[in-house]
Amino acid sequence: MAINTSSNEIWRSWQNYSGFEDRSFRFTEDMRPLFYKWLGITPHSYVLDAGCGTGVFARYLAVDMADGHVDGFDINKGFIEYGKQKLQDLDLDEKVSLRVDDGFNLSTTDNTYDAVTNYTYIGVLSDPIAGLKELIRVCKPGGVVSCVIATNSIPPIVWQGDYPFEGAAELQRLYNEESYIFSKYARKNTDFNQSQEWHALRYPKMFEICGLKHIEIHPFAYTFNYNDEKLPIAYRQDLLKKEIEADIAWISARYEDKKDIYLEHEFHEEKLNRLIELLNIKLDYVTNNFEKDNSFEWIGGFNFIVTGIK
Ligand SMILES: C[S@@+](CC[C@H](N)C(=O)[O-])C[C@H]1O[C@@H](n2cnc3c(N)ncnc32)[C@H](O)[C@@H]1O
Repeated sequence: MAINTSSNEIWRSWQNYSGFEDRSFRFTEDMRPLFYKWLGITPHSYVLDAGCGTGVFARYLAVDMADGHVDGFDINKGFIEYGKQKLQDLDLDEKVSLRVDDGFNLSTTDNTYDAVTNYTYIGVLSDPIAGLKELIRVCKPGGVVSCVIATNSIPPIVWQGDYPFEGAAELQRLYNEESYIFSKYARKNTDFNQSQEWHALRYPKMFEICGLKHIEIHPFAYTFNYNDEKLPIAYRQDLLKKEIEADIAWISARYEDKKDIYLEHEFHEEKLNRLIELLNIKLDYVTNNFEKDNSFEWIGGFNFIVTGIK
């Protein structure tokens, strides 16, 4: 049967990668030994990170490599170019190689890698089964093929924090109301030509029909505390400002797109405008007061990892 490659066009021309780089806090030192264990990796393994974007996950896995190596591929030339520069800056270019390749038709020969993984890649493909079969093809027999998945059916935790500005409690309330309507009623997985049939929770079954054995599901959660003193203040402030700006843009866009659904659930334009106004007040507060702030805003999310053996 012909492969549906319609998602390729979208990803080849995608410009913005700052969101990928900002996810690096999801991967902590503490978790690396568990990732190694679950993904079937040792410091000597030859590993593939599929749909690597700018290489955040490949870099994370490579840090503890001895004579092992991580290859990453992505269909987007801009992501790979940025990622290669980043590897040089971090002195990781001996341990990681990035290349442009199409996951539906990889340039690698059969049975090359000890382990093949990806972070939120299979889910963006218009034909996830074809994409997974390609990953299995390039994995050695006995190697682990895995997908790390950020599920949309469990929304991220967002605690806006105990901010001292007026309207902070109202912000938390309106924010929760909007996210609830969006995630429960308005969100559709259609924006990126993704497969409707193979949603994330069905991946263990998808692994089975693609011929993988000993399929397991592992939990992986992350949190980020904007008051974490171990991290540089400028990094935390920048991340939070970007989050707020992204929220303002994203909430406005999705309201415009799904207005009828929001109205059906009594989320009117006045509520939207007030929410945006409060997010702007928060942005202003964070811009000017972050150094002495102890509002303890934090975010968290649940991911899971499906693994199978070839
Ligand atoms: C949600 S992003 C995840 C990026 C990266 N793994 C990360 O977590 O930062 C999905 C990635 O898959 C890539 N992609 C989509 N279709 C692809 C294909 N057919 N071949 C290779 N990469 C592809 C996109 O360009 C994008 O970088």
